[in-house]
Amino acid sequence: MKIIDVIHGPNLNLLGSREPEIYGTDALEPINAYIAEKTAEYGIELHFFQSNYEGAIIERIHAARGTVDGIVINPAAYTHYSIAIRDALAAVAIPTVEVHLSDISQREDFRKISVISDVCLRQIGGFGKDSYIFGVEALIGHSALGRIKNELKAVNNREEMLIKIVNILHATFPKYDWTGIYLVEGEELVLHNFHGAPSPHTRIPIGQGICGAAVAENETIIVPDVNADNRYLACSIETKSEIVVPIYANDDIIGEIDIDSHRLDVFKNHDRQFLEEVALEIGARW
Ligand code: DQA
Repeated sequence: MKIIDVIHGPNLNLLGSREPEIYGTDALEPINAYIAEKTAEYGIELHFFQSNYEGAIIERIHAARGTVDGIVINPAAYTHYSIAIRDALAAVAIPTVEVHLSDISQREDFRKISVISDVCLRQIGGFGKDSYIFGVEALIGHSALGRIKNELKAVNNREEMLIKIVNILHATFPKYDWTGIYLVEGEELVLHNFHGAPSPHTRIPIGQGICGAAVAENETIIVPDVNADNRYLACSIETKSEIVVPIYANDDIIGEIDIDSHRLDVFKNHDRQFLEEVALEIGARW
């Protein structure tokens, strides 16, 4: 993922003064600057575009073919009825994430419908200007998943597969400060391989800690603030938030992906979806 087009639809040029109680008080230019600043660590070139005209947005999407690697689009009101923008996105087949500042699922009925979403990888909304950051991250995750699938073709054993995956995850998101895979062995989780500072928790009884809880409860657990969660087994004072994603093979949990961040509250739904897709790849090859 080298170049991402960030496309804003109609009336978004009025952000800042337009219904600030819904869309916030930041104008479009500062929002673009915020998106660029918050995603700078990914080393991606972002190209920003806004238009109030459907045809101009369509031409921008056409021009993206062969020149950009991903699109983050807030189609604004066109979301709800522009089959032409939908067809343009389907035609160019560039990985695209649909974003909204507001949560359109909680607003008027006509806004709950998106004719765009099923030609996009995901729809992300309700996080204000951060929706765009999560959109960029979802594209990066999509591209990393492609890389994982590709590299796993040349892998001959589980050992090599797990090492490759941890390396790619760690290299993809700087916010993933400690990335490891634990495997279930009897009643314990045993640390298989990791990237980051050595952890004292190389064997964790199932049910203990957040890692143990994810296996016991059979689901992904996101902890926005580990210091506010009494299940957390402290391993580094730097860790602020954590995500644990179970890995299933033939319906049994065989292990989990565990990621710690030195930043508070960084694991969002798109991280969950990305890591669950990675876990599926591991499970499918187990
Ligand atoms: C919007 C939601 C749309 O329903 C609306 O027409 C917009 C902005 C959002 O970002 O929340 O213009 O896409």
